[in-house]
Amino acid sequence: MKLFDVYPLFDVNIVRGKGCHVWDDKGDEYLDLYGGHAVISIGHAHPHYVEAVSRQVAALGFYSNSVINKLQQEVADRLGAISGYDDYQLFLINSGAEANENALKLASFHNGRTRLVSFAKAFHGRTSLSVEVTDNPKIIAPVNDNGHVTYLPLNDIEAMKDELAKGDVCAVIIEGIQGVGGIQLPTTEFMQALRRACDENDTVLILDEIQSGYGRSGKFFAHQYAGIRPDIITVAKGIGNGFPMGGVLISPKFEPVYGQLGTTFGGNHLACAAAIAVLDVMKAEGLVENAAKVGAFLLDELKGFSGIREVRGRGLMIGLEFENPIKELRRRLLFEQKVFTGVSGTNVLRLLPPLCLSMEEAGDFLNRLHKVLD
Ligand SMILES: Cc1ncc(COP(=O)(O)O)c(C=O)c1O
Repeated sequence: MKLFDVYPLFDVNIVRGKGCHVWDDKGDEYLDLYGGHAVISIGHAHPHYVEAVSRQVAALGFYSNSVINKLQQEVADRLGAISGYDDYQLFLINSGAEANENALKLASFHNGRTRLVSFAKAFHGRTSLSVEVTDNPKIIAPVNDNGHVTYLPLNDIEAMKDELAKGDVCAVIIEGIQGVGGIQLPTTEFMQALRRACDENDTVLILDEIQSGYGRSGKFFAHQYAGIRPDIITVAKGIGNGFPMGGVLISPKFEPVYGQLGTTFGGNHLACAAAIAVLDVMKAEGLVENAAKVGAFLLDELKGFSGIREVRGRGLMIGLEFENPIKELRRRLLFEQKVFTGVSGTNVLRLLPPLCLSMEEAGDFLNRLHKVLD
């Protein structure tokens, strides 16, 4: 059987990782400024994580959501404490798209409405509602194109207030920092106005922190820079350091209803062991603080580079916008300089390294970038 050929692939076979480095099957070492697409939060093959996941799989990998799973409560307790959302409720699933799907359903169950607001360049996943609120017609299948969504320009306070004032918007979904859209930051004024407008119009505010959350921005959640509290927050990617997992953090104003949401695999024992180990390491090693420190250093240094049109970001979520397409630059970084990076559109290089990136590794990256820009 052939693989369904939907991914344009680099000709590299990664077989091993450690911290912020990975190795291919020929033994070549690479610096990982991509984190497998913002997934590796605590670093590759962290010994505490390896030990916790190995121990759990040897004891019990999976049992169903029809019995008590104390590990789920442990994830909820630790996540509530580290994020400042102790009073919220946690629903666990397996991916980012599923997290947004459940968040949007919950909003609609809550206020009975069907209209959704999303923003230009937004990306929220590839399942039915998640893809419908994604601003990319190329990946919205006709069956998903159901007219629920109005897309507004990011940071346009008047347009947002006018749309919500119509009084029939179920939910607004917004990324803490847009990732796929090219590292676009919502302003503090916009986020605060959005919070107020949602309150005034009984609209649910959903913060998609799937890429920008879990410490990546230098705060646990990127929206915390604006000092607001959303009604629902979605997480995935870094939550399991590579183990597939997603979560929905739900404000106390939502009452759970038996059977309304559910999943076979979500919150299974192995996923929870991975998530607990991630939170252990984030706390013990101060990874949120490290992301803030190393990210600030990188942002500062990169702003001094010539040839880059704009540098945007927070913490270890950084976009470098170039005048021209960067396909060749990215290829040279990978094959000549042995550095993995991400991309947004054609002109933005995206940096999403593990949150344990050291100052030395950041400096090493800057030297290698210099070599391809000179
Ligand atoms: C902001 C955001 N939301 C949702 C998703 C979808 O997550 P997943 O691929 O785990 O379904 C992504 C993935 O890139 C994302 O960046």
